[in-house]
Amino acid sequence: MDRRAFLKLLLSLPVVGALGLFVSPLVRYLRPTLGPITKTTVALGDTPTEFSGATGLFSPPDMPQREKEVAFPLANFAKAWDFQTFTFGQKSKEYSFKQYQSIRIPGFVVRLPQDQDNGQPNFHVVSRICPHMGCVFNFIPPEKAPEYNYNQAVNPLFACPCHLSVFDPLKKQDAGAGDIRGKVVSGPAPRPPRYFEWNINGSDLVITAVESGGIS
Ligand code: FES
Repeated sequence: MDRRAFLKLLLSLPVVGALGLFVSPLVRYLRPTLGPITKTTVALGDTPTEFSGATGLFSPPDMPQREKEVAFPLANFAKAWDFQTFTFGQKSKEYSFKQYQSIRIPGFVVRLPQDQDNGQPNFHVVSRICPHMGCVFNFIPPEKAPEYNYNQAVNPLFACPCHLSVFDPLKKQDAGAGDIRGKVVSGPAPRPPRYFEWNINGSDLVITAVESGGIS
């Protein structure tokens, strides 16, 4: 290499370095969300949780994992509109020394007036975190609805004290992922509250998972 070529190469190094600095975050930004770097098992109390550690470019991201199921005896819901509150523990993988983040999601279980086709009682199980801006909402009798700016209530409702969103557990609304119970009948909330998956196991109602996609 002659002297001129060597000097050219030397002068081009800062340009190459600057390009690298610009391109590398851009590539990382364009990559889909990846799983954690390694397969890990996280224990919280007596409930170990395994995150996949899948690191392929198109491998699915690690989803939040429940800490444990929540169960209620069906006897707690003897008639329509009987309800209970609960909290649902969930762990998400996190790039920190702790390796995970643990959250508690408050919820309502409400027995609906109409039973399922198989004769079993039917329930609406929701996160109490308002899909508007994340306040914790209440379950109210219809006569309280005017306090939330809603005057057409004929059945109990979920109602948020922050900006007065009201959700009707008997009505469904298209929320992008199909019809979801808990239609917004008043106020600024953009969609029904997140729902929990549940099943009836013997004489218990068992809550197994929360609708994916965030907690509010
Ligand atoms: S946070 Fe519930 S209505 Fe705004």
